[in-house]
Amino acid sequence: MGSSTLFLLLLISTLCHNFHHSSSFHLSVENLKEDVMVSSPKATFTVGFYAVGENAFCFAIWYSQSPNTVVWMANRDHPVNGKRSSLSLLKTGNLVLTDADQFQVWSTNTATSSKQVRLHLYDTGNLVLMDTSNVVIVALWQSFDFPTDTLLPHQPLRGSTNLVSSRSGNNYSSGFYKLFFDFENVLRLTYQGPRVSSTYWPYAWLLSNNFGNGNGNNGRSIFNDSRVVVLDDLGYLISSDNFTFKTSDYGMKLVRRLTLDHDGNVRLYGMKDGEDKWSVSGIFRPQPCLIHGICGPNSFCSYEPTSGRKCSCCPGHRWFDSEDWSQGCVPNFQLVCNNNTEQESRFLSLPGVDFYGYDYGNFQNHTYQQCVSLCSRLCECKGFQYSTSRQSGVNGQCYLKTRLLNGHRSPSFTNSFFLRMPLSLHDYDDSPINNGLLCGRNSGGVKVLERPYVEEKENELVKFMLWLVIAFGGIEVVCIFMVWCFLFRNDVTLRKEGYVLAAATGFRKFSYSELKQASKGFSEEIGRGGGGTVYKGVLSDDRIVAIKRLYEVANQGESEFLAEVGIIGRLNHMNLIGMLGYCAEGKHRLLVYEYMENGSLAQNISSSSNILDWSKRYNIALGTARGLAYLHEECLEWILHCDIKPQNILLDSDYKPKVADFGLSKLLNQNNLNNSSFSRVRGTRGYMAPEWVFNLPITSKVDVYSYGIVVLEMITGRSPTTGVQITELEAESPHPERLVTWVREKRKKGSEVGPSWVDEIVDPALGSHYDMNETEILATVALECVQDDKEVRPNMSHVVERLQSDEH
Ligand SMILES: *[C@@H]1O[C@H](CO)[C@@H](O)[C@H](O)[C@H]1NC(C)=O
Ligand SMILES: *[C@@H]1O[C@H](CO)[C@@H](O)[C@H](O)[C@H]1NC(C)=O
Ligand SMILES: *[C@@H]1O[C@H](CO)[C@@H](O)[C@H](O)[C@H]1NC(C)=O
Ligand SMILES: *[C@@H]1O[C@H](CO)[C@@H](O)[C@H](O)[C@H]1NC(C)=O
Ligand SMILES: *[C@@H]1O[C@H](CO)[C@@H](O)[C@H](O)[C@H]1NC(C)=O
Repeated sequence: MGSSTLFLLLLISTLCHNFHHSSSFHLSVENLKEDVMVSSPKATFTVGFYAVGENAFCFAIWYSQSPNTVVWMANRDHPVNGKRSSLSLLKTGNLVLTDADQFQVWSTNTATSSKQVRLHLYDTGNLVLMDTSNVVIVALWQSFDFPTDTLLPHQPLRGSTNLVSSRSGNNYSSGFYKLFFDFENVLRLTYQGPRVSSTYWPYAWLLSNNFGNGNGNNGRSIFNDSRVVVLDDLGYLISSDNFTFKTSDYGMKLVRRLTLDHDGNVRLYGMKDGEDKWSVSGIFRPQPCLIHGICGPNSFCSYEPTSGRKCSCCPGHRWFDSEDWSQGCVPNFQLVCNNNTEQESRFLSLPGVDFYGYDYGNFQNHTYQQCVSLCSRLCECKGFQYSTSRQSGVNGQCYLKTRLLNGHRSPSFTNSFFLRMPLSLHDYDDSPINNGLLCGRNSGGVKVLERPYVEEKENELVKFMLWLVIAFGGIEVVCIFMVWCFLFRNDVTLRKEGYVLAAATGFRKFSYSELKQASKGFSEEIGRGGGGTVYKGVLSDDRIVAIKRLYEVANQGESEFLAEVGIIGRLNHMNLIGMLGYCAEGKHRLLVYEYMENGSLAQNISSSSNILDWSKRYNIALGTARGLAYLHEECLEWILHCDIKPQNILLDSDYKPKVADFGLSKLLNQNNLNNSSFSRVRGTRGYMAPEWVFNLPITSKVDVYSYGIVVLEMITGRSPTTGVQITELEAESPHPERLVTWVREKRKKGSEVGPSWVDEIVDPALGSHYDMNETEILATVALECVQDDKEVRPNMSHVVERLQSDEH
């Protein structure tokens, strides 16, 4: 206790006064987890010891509001023991962290003869060790100069420093991704794995043009060697290489951060004052497979909204470590290398597959046969990429590969890769991707490496005793454990999950009686559909919420329910409805959402008294597209919505849209799993894509279709149908065709005359108060979204880009 007080005194006194360190101090971490914390003046940030594992602590800074969001760590790769570790300010002015009394794991490396040294945590999140003995205060050391994976507003990332991702979602040690300025003064993202490294942002061929992220960048400049990038409070990022980025909520004064996440993507997050949930308002690399290092050598990444991001071995290869995809695959065969090689190789086509980098050479004007013989003659050649030429009289070109790395398969990629194999190997299929059918959540695919922290300095005797106990107790423990699991299985998993969730988001469990009281006995119904009825409620802390009572989930266990709901609860995006918690008691299953003041888009479109003006409509279309793009492509768990309609787009007090009811199908269809054709159908007549009717594979393009219909409805004010919920598989096709055909025809006729066709389709209620140019863009995009062939519909991030480019 004595030492805890000392430490608190040190920090607190340094916050207010000058701290005179006339003698060195020493303090122990033992039992101080909660005590050794001090907040910045306005309590935005807290500094202290952060538990990163069993008995493992890091000296760190985190948001007081969101204690799981760590913004800086002193010793991320060397957590200290919970016993006999200490932080000391030495007489020399050096701040030192010592592990278990023995090793110095971290220090500020500062030295001063001054007697007035103070440590101050500012509200910007900067921890500064300063010398205040002179009139001019000198910063001896500051945490802003040593970022880990996060940049805070006004914290510059300079030439010599870099951001390094964490190893995984729950392991804070240094991972393999790095954001830094290279020797050419360009800000880059690189994967530096144990065996290979490669840069994946920006791509070399994009360096001199546009990055295509909708931010209107004009390429990078290599001539400015100041090498600095900084984010401001309003959401604007500017780098000395002329790269700029505006968050989608640019202009709002929010708590913000930029984090290089463990999946290798840079995301910009924002949080409203007083809340504890982060929204993603910007992302550097929207296509998840273009991040390198996900799949190791001889494998390729594919992204299917239904199955998420996954790695597949090339045919004839097997996993090096099936638990860790980043280790890649090894061949089951050996290529011989002699003068006869050409007769002993065959080439297997992998359509749509591309491997980035490691080219032996690029050979123009070569026929396929010429490429085959080039590759066959080269011992190192593992295969080649072949593309045909569009010019007549010119042959195609091939890229010979000496290593198969950064593999990526994309349906939009029309060329093939030709994999070299010994002639003796025959039977390999070349299409390893299959489509899942259920709407809902898909596992992210990337394995989270979880390794328990091992206490480093165990006493040998203790170790021996422990082994003895384990040896004798082992059998007994196994028996007890089995019985215990059998009896309490649900309960155990639940507690664990519940803990993780509560820690992660502030998402919580409510009791049934609490929600019954909040909703005054479920008296005020505000909506229906999506498997439940929604009621308005007021929580004990006066927060207004929407409570959804599900009716189809009776057979589901609480832990299963929580596993699904937890995934949804963890999604944060400003255009997705936020889930505050859930209740699972007996047969009751309820979900608690944030309350949307302006109800649903459906109520607003049909309202004749309060007409949605044009700019609101446009912003609703854009925001909805952003929410869906996030669900489909950007979040760590990809989700198909499968029931986009105006009833599921809710509007907050500023008419900002939030998509509701996503990810619920797994909860709702549990009872019907034995009837797959029945459970498969989900959606609402009028908004359903033709794939449902023709029993074709379901991809994220079903949401694109429904989105297109909703947009047409917003433009024209005409409903595609009466919006009946489909509750069973019907033989007749649900035809939204009338609205689509009508708009298509108007455009066809009108395009001969000019852009005035939009005048004819636009909602008469708007009068002349709309932007012709925007309407035309919106209608054109919507018509592309509702094409029958799902392949030619754009994906949601393209839609966002198109609409954004016209945003004023
Ligand atoms: C930087 O970008 C601005 C516009 O965004 C452009 O006018 C300027 O020429 C660029 N500078 C360089 C060096 O590319
Ligand atoms: C170099 O970048 C810095 C920081 O963005 C900027 O202030 C400066 O004007 C740039 N210099 C030139 C010559 O463009
Ligand atoms: C290939 O043939 C050449 C001469 O024809 C010979 O010198 C060389 O050693 C042979 N190489 C191999 C690997 O057999
Ligand atoms: C391409 O190669 C063919 C012979 O294969 C040749 O006739 C033609 O002129 C070449 N074209 C170019 C543009 O080099
Ligand atoms: C985090 O990952 C590193 C590297 O795999 C491992 O050494 C360490 O033990 C892990 N830490 C925790 C707390 O799991």
